[in-house]
Amino acid sequence: MQITVFSAKPYDRQSLDAANAGHGHRLTYLDLRLTAETAELAHRADVVCAFVNDDMSAPVLAILARCGVRLIALRSAGFNHVDLDAAKAAGIAVARVPAYSPNAVAEHAVALILTLNRKTHRAYNRVRDGNFALDGLLGFDLVGKTVGIVGTGQIGQVMARIMLGFGCHVTAADPYPNDDLSALGVAYLPAADLLRQSDIIALQCPLTPETHHLINDQTIATMKPGVMIANTSRGAVIDTRAVIRGLKTGHIGALGLDVYEEEADLFFEDKSQTAIPDDVFARLLTFPNVLITGHQGFFTTEALSAIAQTTIANVTSFQDTGQPVHPVSPKAR
Ligand code: NAI
Repeated sequence: MQITVFSAKPYDRQSLDAANAGHGHRLTYLDLRLTAETAELAHRADVVCAFVNDDMSAPVLAILARCGVRLIALRSAGFNHVDLDAAKAAGIAVARVPAYSPNAVAEHAVALILTLNRKTHRAYNRVRDGNFALDGLLGFDLVGKTVGIVGTGQIGQVMARIMLGFGCHVTAADPYPNDDLSALGVAYLPAADLLRQSDIIALQCPLTPETHHLINDQTIATMKPGVMIANTSRGAVIDTRAVIRGLKTGHIGALGLDVYEEEADLFFEDKSQTAIPDDVFARLLTFPNVLITGHQGFFTTEALSAIAQTTIANVTSFQDTGQPVHPVSPKAR
């Protein structure tokens, strides 16, 4: 099949070409994001392969349908950026990569937590500057602390096991509790109780109407003073302006973000030669207890290879049977 790959970086090209060996699909790589302005570039493509910040709203899908696109193969687990009803109406199937390496994302969330706690990001710069003072680098023992995980799907489950390994008391909120985790001692709670009781809150849920701005002024007010929040899920699970207010009062003790509400205009590109136009993001960068990474939770060798293999398998299955291996339908939300 003819596949147009949007938001394609050199590492995507490498992994997709390797996965396509033996399948014979024809791939065209575009560094551009998929938007209403770029969608026409998919003309004559059967498949559009898209990533997390590509725009798959109804107007873009209408253009893709006119181009003859019949499948969107997402290189991601999350599909909140696709208007599934509009895709169905346009006759475009949607496929995703449900689980490529939950370890990659969970381990990155743990990296954020460990760094914020022991302040290795600050220590690194200090020591290189010949400053060996410890003031400001005080952390806490993780053992015995309460870690609340919102969403115990593929990633949240790995996260729970890692934090149990640190000797933490792990609680979780999920409409579908996981029996294996319960057997390991993870206590399922209503989200409001979890947010109130946690020393560390890890967000591992999808972005849905229910989780949109789950972290807001009201819920922050109920949290323990000094709480640490780590978000590797989707930016809009957090109301960014509310966490800035919480950071300014000190109620939020540390914030680790791999995702950001308005990341589409920033992440995955080198913006080091330009001013950051987003004042809210720029304000976040001023806090010493905020650590931001640019949506790199998925970025391991193993995960890239698995994403590419599942993406190509979705396309081949669609070609052979009319159905991708991992379809997403409107009822999946
Ligand atoms: P998953 O679909 O396996 O698990 C999601 C879990 O969240 C499910 O158990 C579900 O029941 C639960 N959930 C749904 N609504 C909830 C709610 N209102 N409150 C609490 N839990 C709720 O997904 P997976 O693979 O664990 O990924 C989770 C999210 O992580 C993805 O949706 C995606 O947004 C994000 N992600 C981020 C990556 C990164 O690079 N930072 C990479 C991959 C995923």
